[in-house]
Amino acid sequence: MAPQPNTPASGALTLLGIETSCDETAASVVRRWPDGRCEVLSSIISSQIAAHAPYGGVVPEIAARAHVETIDGIIAEAMSEAALTFAALDGVAATAGPGLVGGVMVGLSAGKAIALALGKPLIAVNHLEGHAVSARLGARIDYPFLLLLVSGGHCQLLDVEGVGRCRRLGSTMDDAAGEAFDKIAKSMGLPYPGGPALERLAEGGDPMRFVLPRALVGRQGCDFSFSGLKTAAARMAEGVTDPVDRRDLAAAVQAAISRQLAERSERAMAIYLRAHGGAERRFVVAGGVAANATVRATLQTVAGAQGFSFTAPPLVYCTDNAAMIALAGAERLAAGLTNGLDAAARPRWPLDETAALASPTHVPGRKGAKA
Ligand code: KG4
Ligand code: ZN
Repeated sequence: MAPQPNTPASGALTLLGIETSCDETAASVVRRWPDGRCEVLSSIISSQIAAHAPYGGVVPEIAARAHVETIDGIIAEAMSEAALTFAALDGVAATAGPGLVGGVMVGLSAGKAIALALGKPLIAVNHLEGHAVSARLGARIDYPFLLLLVSGGHCQLLDVEGVGRCRRLGSTMDDAAGEAFDKIAKSMGLPYPGGPALERLAEGGDPMRFVLPRALVGRQGCDFSFSGLKTAAARMAEGVTDPVDRRDLAAAVQAAISRQLAERSERAMAIYLRAHGGAERRFVVAGGVAANATVRATLQTVAGAQGFSFTAPPLVYCTDNAAMIALAGAERLAAGLTNGLDAAARPRWPLDETAALASPTHVPGRKGAKA
């Protein structure tokens, strides 16, 4: 298709999104209409999985270098697949954190350069806000909604009240759910990334054969903890070599993680309802772990029981991508929220800064949860 000019009469906003906060270099063009509908014109993702696999996890220096090497080509591919010229863009959205800061700087600098060259607005997007809107790439979801954000670096429950307005209801006190999947998978000898590998191994397994500890039973609020489960599963994995036993242990791990996510979400639903009354019962799950079928099914059951609608992003938008960054940028731009070219790359950037500052689970430093 020949490059098309934008159609300003429609009131649509067309944004380039750039994502480089972890181990995917991604660029996407998304068009959003004033009524909230959106269309993904392109979404290109270059995964670095092969580069990190020998180390069993993401190596920040390797990630940053790979982003530098691929970002220009990925952006060009996204523009070409969208069949648009840069002049047709209304703005450029780039992830500005939280994440591995070397990678974030690569994508943010690219975004700044394009915005400066075009004379168009820059929107510095919080990666978590991208995940928060990712389900809106596949379905119309009005604000407010209750969000369970579950990925490799994050595990939190948020009351999402509007563009950039989130109230944190709970978060992990140790590992994120994806991190628990990855570490347990590693202790079972599965390849990185462990979540999808563990889900494949668990297929057809009996989740009841191995008994794993239940965390935070009876604890008020909706924080999470996966470290006890991680230690217990790793210890069990040492003595389990038979293929059927391994399958059943994987199924038990997956069920235990799903159960905790569901239990804490159920508590958050009660808190959310107290804040919003009975009217807006929407529950959304997002982030890489939302790709897990057992997690989705368990959460859907809880949502149904509490009278909440349940939405998960299309599978391709569960894990890191730039379409969600472009959409978050478009929503911000429509609300008049843009950033200067001095926007900083932030390794840590909680969505609910007030709650993060008040909570001991969010101390700065290596041990603190990323957000
Ligand atoms: O959202 P994401 O791509 O990156 C972060 O922002 O962290 O999430 C990646 C995480 C990894 O921990 C990965 O193992 C997990 O999501 N994950 C899964 C599945 N697919 C990805 N966990 C369980 N089951 C899956 N199918
Ligand atoms: Zn992510």
